[in-house]
Amino acid sequence: MSSSADQYDEPLFYQVMQYARTADRDVVDMVSGNPDWEPPRALRAGLTTYADADVDEFQYPPSEGLTRLRESICEQQSIDISRVLITHGAAEANYLAMATALESYSGQEFVVVDPVYPYYPGKATMLGGTVTRVPVRKDGHLDVGAMQEAITNDTVAVICNTPNNPTGAVYRQSSLQSLAEFASTVDAALIVDEVYARFDFTGQFKTALTLAADNVIVTTAFSKSMAITGFRIGYAVFPSHLVDQAATRHMLVMVSASRPAQAAVAAALKQTGSNYYKETRAMLRHRVQSFIEGLETAGASYIRPEGAFYVLARFDGFSGTLRNVKRLIDEAGVAGMPGAAFGSSYDEWMRFSLCTDRTTTAGDRLAAFF
Ligand SMILES: Cc1ncc(COP(=O)(O)O)c(C=O)c1O
Repeated sequence: MSSSADQYDEPLFYQVMQYARTADRDVVDMVSGNPDWEPPRALRAGLTTYADADVDEFQYPPSEGLTRLRESICEQQSIDISRVLITHGAAEANYLAMATALESYSGQEFVVVDPVYPYYPGKATMLGGTVTRVPVRKDGHLDVGAMQEAITNDTVAVICNTPNNPTGAVYRQSSLQSLAEFASTVDAALIVDEVYARFDFTGQFKTALTLAADNVIVTTAFSKSMAITGFRIGYAVFPSHLVDQAATRHMLVMVSASRPAQAAVAAALKQTGSNYYKETRAMLRHRVQSFIEGLETAGASYIRPEGAFYVLARFDGFSGTLRNVKRLIDEAGVAGMPGAAFGSSYDEWMRFSLCTDRTTTAGDRLAAFF
């Protein structure tokens, strides 16, 4: 592996968390993307039921995932079951998508946006690919023209994440359609990570599975939507011509995703109505608003998220360096992530996660500090 560890989010992420944890004062943790809210009730019940299942249900599940879980997904997404692989979180789904693109399309280069979820460049480098970053527009949306300019014959895949971490943008379906078509002209895939699909505040989000293209791979997980990042259950939907090789890789690397976690998610998916997701969104909307009020008093610039659960903010004369992040922990009692963790175009900014019920306190503290 030629990449250095500091290219990844994780060490910086842990460094900030560790610093906040050992601070000499109370700190509102707005670093992690670990939901602090309840999973669906049916998820806990599904786990309990599984504990009493027959021993044969404690053995290897089908490599591609439990049939009842895949069937529920297909019902919701209106896709053919043969295209769905249950994975070890969105993390494995993204890895499978990227590795399969490298095997099946021509080129080595992954085109991503800047700022970007840092695991994509990390995985690209690990897989022997290269990375080209294209800055997003001021509002966090895709600069489709600039991305098309960046796409070359060496491009193997364009990776987009919507709703987006860290900008909160919910990409237009027309932008993704253009990128899928453009990628196709250079024999490349479009990978769309929809792990925050349930956190769309605009009502405009549409899965990329509805795009009219055969080079689109969709990745996602239940990690955030069901508040279970520790369960490690996600899935990838491949075009029919790619699914067999992805399934082989999945089988050789993972055998399968964890069976008890799949069983619990299957039960939850079947029994959880739209109200659960609606209530979570309402709670997050409230957190966005209360935090943003503090940011306004602090005189900060910010991007109001259209989706996901992060807020990017910039404070005049106080750029988003690790040093300043530490200062905010010590002097304001609020921990965020340095913008530089996501690339260079937002290194003046900091990202604040809304996975805390103390967003009002955090906003008040920032207002008082600035
Ligand atoms: C954009 C994005 N994709 C994927 C993941 C990882 O998802 P999982 O925990 O399901 O592997 C995250 C986690 O923060 C994320 O922000």
